[in-house]
This record gives sequence, C-alpha cells and structure tokens, in this order.
Amino acid sequence: MNKIIAKKKISEDIIQLTFENKELAEARKPGQFLILRVHDKGERIPLTIMDSDSIKDTIDIVFQVVGKTTTLLSELKVDDKILDVAGPLGNPTLIKNFGRCVLIGGGVGTAVLFPVLKALKEAGNTVIAIIGARNKDSLILIEEVKAISDELIIITDDGTAGIKGLVTDALKEVIARGDEINYVYAVGPVIMMKFVALTTKEDNIKTEVSLNPIMIDGTGMCGGCRVLISGKEKFACVHGPDFDAHQVDFDLLIQRLKMFKDKEHKSMECHCKNKEK
Ligand code: FAD
Ligand code: NAD
Ligand code: FES
Repeated sequence: MNKIIAKKKISEDIIQLTFENKELAEARKPGQFLILRVHDKGERIPLTIMDSDSIKDTIDIVFQVVGKTTTLLSELKVDDKILDVAGPLGNPTLIKNFGRCVLIGGGVGTAVLFPVLKALKEAGNTVIAIIGARNKDSLILIEEVKAISDELIIITDDGTAGIKGLVTDALKEVIARGDEINYVYAVGPVIMMKFVALTTKEDNIKTEVSLNPIMIDGTGMCGGCRVLISGKEKFACVHGPDFDAHQVDFDLLIQRLKMFKDKEHKSMECHCKNKEK
C-alpha cells in the first residue's frame, strides 16, 4: 500500500506522484483531500486527490515543494512507500448541471481544480477554464485541462504564455462578453481567491473556493484549520474545504497562514543542514 509507481516533475517546483491505494481510489470524490506523513516523527500535510484510477487502484497527487515535508516527499523515489495516508477527507465538491461554469486555477491550485473541472464537464456543464501562473514554466496540466474544457484561457503574470495579466483580468473579460455565467469555482493563492470573489460579487455569480488553512488532524479535533464564514467559525477539514466565496473572511485566512512562518523556516533550515552533514 502507498507504493509510488510513477513520479514526474511537471514544473520547476511541482511534482506529480502516482501511488497505489485501492481503498482511496474506490472511495474518493472530486474536491476531497488526503493527509499524509513521510516519516514517523514528521508532520501531517493535506494534499488534494488530483485523480484516481479504480482499475489500477492508484491515486495521483500534485504538490509544490515549499517546505520541509513537501521536500521530504519530493525526495521519495519510484518503489518507495509513503509512510501513511489518511483519507478521503473533507466534503466532496457539489457537482451538478449548473449550466455555464468558469473554473479558475492559479499556480499549483490548477491541480486542486482539475478533478472538479473533470466532474463538472461530465455532469453536462459548459466549462470555461482560466489557468494562471507567474510565467510559462510555472503553468501545469495544460494539456489535461484543454482536453476536457470547452474553452481554455491561459494567462501569465509576465505574458510569456497566453495573455499577460492576472486570472481576474481574464475573468472580467469573460463576464464582459455578456453570456450568462451560472457558477464560478476558483483555487489558488488566497489573495487570488479573494479578488475572484470580489469580482463575481458585483454580478452576484455563485462562486465557490477551496480553502487551504494549515491543517493538523483533518478530523475537526484540533481547530487548526479554523476559518470565518459569514462571521461564524468553521473548520475547513470537516465543514469544507469548499465554501461560498462571498462569505469567506480571506484576510483572516491570510493572517493565519503566516502564523508558523518562523517555525516552518527553522524546520527547513534544519533539514538542509542535516543533509549537508
Ligand atoms: P511548511 O514548512 O509547513 O510551509 C512552507 C510554506 O507553505 C509556508 O510559507 C507556509 O505558510 C505555507 N503553507 C503551509 N501550510 C500551508 C497550507 N495548508 N496551505 C498553503 N500554504 C501553506 N498543496 C499542493 O501543493 N498541492 C495540493 O494539492 C494541495 N492541496 C491542499 C489541500 C488542502 C485541503 C489544504 C489545506 C492544503 C493543500 N495544499 C496543497 C497545501 C499544502 O498542504 C502545503 O503546501 C503543505 O502543508 C506545506 O508543507 P511543508 O512542510 O512542505 O511546508
Ligand atoms: P502564484 O503565486 O504564482 O499565483 C498564481 C496566479 O494567481 C497568478 O499567476 C495570478 O494570475 C493569480 N493571482 C495572484 N495574485 C493575484 C491577485 N492579487 N489578484 C488576482 N489574481 C492573482 O501561485 P503559486 O506560486 O503556484 O502558489 C500557489 C498558491 O496556491 C499558494 O499560495 C498556495 O498557498 C495556494 N494553494 C491553494 C490550495 C487550495 O486548496 N486552495 C492548494 C494548494 C496551494
Ligand atoms: Fe484540525 Fe481541521 S485540521 S480541526
């Protein structure tokens, strides 16, 4: 179980791993995530289940190498085993025929978006995908998204691929066409999700976001993933991770994500020093 059978670097700092896990492959639904550990004294980190294959009994995850645990995960090789994997966790995304949907992925958020995009297309929606990244080399899953979308808009901060600008610029252009948009789903940096929410609020378009607070147990026990929705406390691991974007307190989430910055930094420094020895 959890044996890695494929590993692919899909951008400078993003890796896709495929590993065996029959139960998870059978049970998981779009929008759900898992929590894994790489070694027995290590922290648990949440990652979205990007795809699964219930015939081969495999799970795909896509992760950006940002700190100690994602670095350790990136050092695993084909045939190694991930120590433990819990899931599927969180509520599945609501999938139904909304009509015309705009799905927005920023950076590695595109991997979180992918299963929802696939499921909404299968449910009969017209799907417009907007995929943004810093530059051409940071774009991921473009061919996969293109294959299942009715329209794909690529946008980069520096204009090295697609249009030059932010995903919200592309969103504004799509809205300005005047075709009715029934649903927007966005995943990426919190600041991106905040501005997507502000944009769609003007036109009262139903919008959902997948939130990524720091999680510890993933079962509603520790309170680590507390977010404010319509002024009420919710735990993203059990009440989310999807929430109505127009009700989220994004500023609080940004603040809470910075809470352990010093400790995260020290932990990474320690890991690098130990490797040098
Ligand atoms: P740390 O040393 O813990 O942190 C390094 C940097 O990452 C810091 O700047 C820190 O503020 C930031 N960070 C830490 N935790 C999070 C977090 N939960 N969200 C955002 N930034 C964080 N990442 C992916 O690359 N792919 C995914 O599919 C994915 N899915 C997620 C699904 C959920 C439900 C949640 C809550 C998060 C998801 N994340 C995903 C984010 C991922 O969990 C973090 O990047 C990871 O925990 C970082 O661990 P680390 O030890 O490598 O870095
Ligand atoms: P990034 O910082 O390169 O941003 C990706 C895109 O988001 C940009 O190209 C831009 O189009 C858009 N964006 C950024 N700031 C914006 C703003 N102010 N207004 C409008 N659009 C804006 O992305 P990255 O380096 O790949 O980082 C990925 C981010 O996604 C991390 O911050 C991580 O925390 C987050 N993340 C979220 C989830 C989730 O479940 N929500 C999961 C994984 C990662
Ligand atoms: Fe502990 Fe959500 S991660 S309550």
